[in-house]
Amino acid sequence: MPTNPTRQFQSPHTAAVHAGTTFPKTGHGISEPIVHTAPFTYTDTADLRNVMTHRVQKKQIDRRGYARQGNPTVLSVADRIAALEGSEAAVLTQSGMKAISAVMLTFLSAGDRLVLTSNLYRHTYNVAQKLLEKFGVETVIVPFGDYDALEAAITPNTKMLFSEALTNPNVRVLDLEKFAALGQKHQVLTVVDATLATPLNVRPIAYGIDIVVHSASKYFSGHNDILAGAIACRYELWQPLMDLLNWTGGLLDPNSAFLLARGLKTLAVRVQHQNETCRQLAQWLEDHPRVTKVWHPDLESHPEHDLAQRTLSGCGGLFSFELEGDLADGEAVLDKMQLAIIGPSLGGAECLVSHPSVTTWWDKTAAERAAAGIKDNLIRVSVGLESVEDLIADFAQALG
Ligand SMILES: Cc1ncc(COP(=O)(O)O)c(C=O)c1O
Repeated sequence: MPTNPTRQFQSPHTAAVHAGTTFPKTGHGISEPIVHTAPFTYTDTADLRNVMTHRVQKKQIDRRGYARQGNPTVLSVADRIAALEGSEAAVLTQSGMKAISAVMLTFLSAGDRLVLTSNLYRHTYNVAQKLLEKFGVETVIVPFGDYDALEAAITPNTKMLFSEALTNPNVRVLDLEKFAALGQKHQVLTVVDATLATPLNVRPIAYGIDIVVHSASKYFSGHNDILAGAIACRYELWQPLMDLLNWTGGLLDPNSAFLLARGLKTLAVRVQHQNETCRQLAQWLEDHPRVTKVWHPDLESHPEHDLAQRTLSGCGGLFSFELEGDLADGEAVLDKMQLAIIGPSLGGAECLVSHPSVTTWWDKTAAERAAAGIKDNLIRVSVGLESVEDLIADFAQALG
């Protein structure tokens, strides 16, 4: 019986199914039991003393005390994510934003500088600029892909570099080697949001990145039905993160952890299918007479095509394209879609389409959007698990 959650797995396909799970389970079931409890109990005082001593002295990741500090269902799924990312440990949180804010709040203090790249998820900037700046953390944003500007922004008080492995909606590709090297050279923590990439396509820790964060609401869970976040890192970084979550609350609940565990079992097959569907649909759109530009790293026209070829096993399930005309022309196309659903978010079973200019970027001016490469006629597509033939047929009829 496989009983060792820390066992190394050769392939993420196997880790996604088996890592972090122990047998026999309560009731001898195959899936993880959902343990609903606030406090935990001890068989006697020696047991209590043993658990507490282990926790403090022996780097025990399994916490038995109070559910705010840990829960067996949640911890087993965290172990699986650690195995997938190739990290020593992982933390699961109530949302991706909880994971990102926990990382920033744990490792940044008043007087520190945080350097972020452009083109990131908008609420990552909000946490930095609207929350952390209130507490004296300075935020600097440098253009994505400009590694000289990134290095120039690193001052002696810089404590963290933050970026995304693949960005949304233009699917820019981070040079993880350069990013990690800058962090190591200047002794600054490097944090990468790898939500769009997933460990099936790239594992940032293998490049020397310190902390990987995910919105597990997306590909990890895979069904658009939960909110969850994940942080993968070394044990020495895991410990203070768990302390923050113990003080402030925010660990994932066991019901969502169960759904996440179930979603993870199919992560590898879903991501492979979505990589391929996305690539073929992007190629088909690039040849369409009404499409003026397609943003997908598998296409030679993409600014990081070569980097993607070198570093990624696949480019993920999201891309975007620019349509001739303006927003109204794009809206007319979206209104005609019969299979793809109009909606934000990504990583689920259904193909979702939206206009970033009226969803994520709705509160920015046209000039700010243009500076970030978000034209009004840009359409974002997150492919689901449909067949590529059916999706092409849907886009073909909607584009007329
Ligand atoms: C790249 C990225 N990071 C983080 C988040 C935030 O995750 P959550 O919605 O789980 O809080 C999102 C949400 O869309 C995202 O796209």
